[in-house]
Amino acid sequence: MHIQHVVGARPNFVKVAPVHAALATLPGIRSTILHTGQHYDRLMSDVFFEDLRLPAPDVSLGVGSGTHAEQTGAIMVAFERQVAAEPPDLVVVYGDVNSTAAAALVCAKAGIPLAHVEAGLRSFDRTMPEEINRMVTDRLADLLLVTEPAGRKNLLAEGVVAGRIVDTGNVMIDSLAGLLEREGIRERRPPAGKPRVIVTLHRPSNVDEPGRLAQLADLLGSLAATAEVLFPVHPRTRARLAATPAGAQLAGTVTVVEPLRYRDFVRELAGASLIVTDSGGIQEESAYLGVPCLTLRANTERPITLEAGTNRLEPECDGDLLGAARDLMGRRFPPIGRNPVLLAAGWDGHAGPRVAAALAALVRR
Ligand code: UD1
Repeated sequence: MHIQHVVGARPNFVKVAPVHAALATLPGIRSTILHTGQHYDRLMSDVFFEDLRLPAPDVSLGVGSGTHAEQTGAIMVAFERQVAAEPPDLVVVYGDVNSTAAAALVCAKAGIPLAHVEAGLRSFDRTMPEEINRMVTDRLADLLLVTEPAGRKNLLAEGVVAGRIVDTGNVMIDSLAGLLEREGIRERRPPAGKPRVIVTLHRPSNVDEPGRLAQLADLLGSLAATAEVLFPVHPRTRARLAATPAGAQLAGTVTVVEPLRYRDFVRELAGASLIVTDSGGIQEESAYLGVPCLTLRANTERPITLEAGTNRLEPECDGDLLGAARDLMGRRFPPIGRNPVLLAAGWDGHAGPRVAAALAALVRR
C-alpha cells in the first residue's frame, strides 16, 4: 500500500515528519514524500528536512512562486501528471497552504482517497487565502484528522459526517517535543535581564500594505526601547520592507536576520520572553512552550491557544500593543508540555502514531 504525503511550504515539513516516521513502523505500507516546490530557498526548505531528520523528498515538482492561481494551477498540472504515472493508494495533505488545496483538487478528480491533517480549523475570515484552502480541502477529504476540539465542531457544523473525523492531537507538537528532547531543553529560559522578543510577520494583511507595515515598524521600534527584539524575516516580508521606508526604519532598532532554521528557531522560542507573530503554527508552539504570544491578527483559527492562556489577539497597531506585551510578559503559564487544555486535546508528542493508525485503517479498508 502506497501512502503519499504532499508538502510544499515550511510548516508542512514540520507536520509530515512525525507521520512519516510513525508509518515507517507499520508493516505493508510504503510512505513517500512529494515536495511541490512552493518553498524552495535552502532556509525555507532543505534545512527543515535536515533538522527534522526527514529523508529527501521522493518526488520534487519544483513549481516555485507565483500568484495564487499560477501557483495552485502549476501544482495541479504537475501533480496530476505524477499521480497518473504512479497512482498512490492514499494521499495525505497538511495544513492550509496552496500546495494542500491544489493536491486535494487533483485527488478528488482522479478518484484517489485523501486525508487532511489539521482539518476543521476556521478563522471565518475569507480574506485569508489559507481559509479558502482549508474550506476546499476539508470539503474534498475522505478522512479529517483534527488537532483541537474546534476542528471537530466546525466540521460537524458544515455537515461532515462524524465517521470521517478523527481527533488525533497535534503532530506539529510531536516535532517540537522531539527537537526539545534532542537539544536537551526541558524548561523555558527567558533572560533574567532585558526581555527578549522574537518577531515573525508574513501575512499579506500585515506586510502587503505600506501604511500598516510602517505602523508595525514604529511599534517594533518602541518595543525595542525596553527589549531586545529579534526579527527573522520571511522572503515575502523582506521584499516588502525593501520596497518601503519601513525597512530602513527597522534597521536601527531591531535585529533583522534571515529566516532561522527549525532547530535555531525553537531554541530562540524557548529562550524568549515574548513572541509577536502572525503565524498560525507559532501560536501553537508558544502555547506548548508556555511562552506569551501576541498575535497581530483580528482572529485565529486556533482558539485552543486563547483558551490555553498564552495567546492574545492584537489586531490594532497602536500603543495598546505595548501595554499588552508588558501585561502578558508578567504572567506565568504552565511549564513546557504541561498545559492541561493542550494535553486534553492530545498535544502530548504522540499524535504521529495516532495519525498513522487512522491512515493505515483507511488504506487497508
Ligand atoms: C505560505 C502560505 C502560508 C504559510 C507560509 C509559511 C499560502 C497561500 N501561503 O505563505 O499560509 O503561513 O507559507 O511560510 O500557501 N519566496 C522565496 N523563497 C521561498 C518561498 C517563497 O523567496 O522559498 C518568496 C517569493 O517571492 C514568493 C513569496 O515569498 O512569491 C511568497 O511565497 P508563497 O509560498 O507564495 O507564500 P508565503 O507567504 O510563503
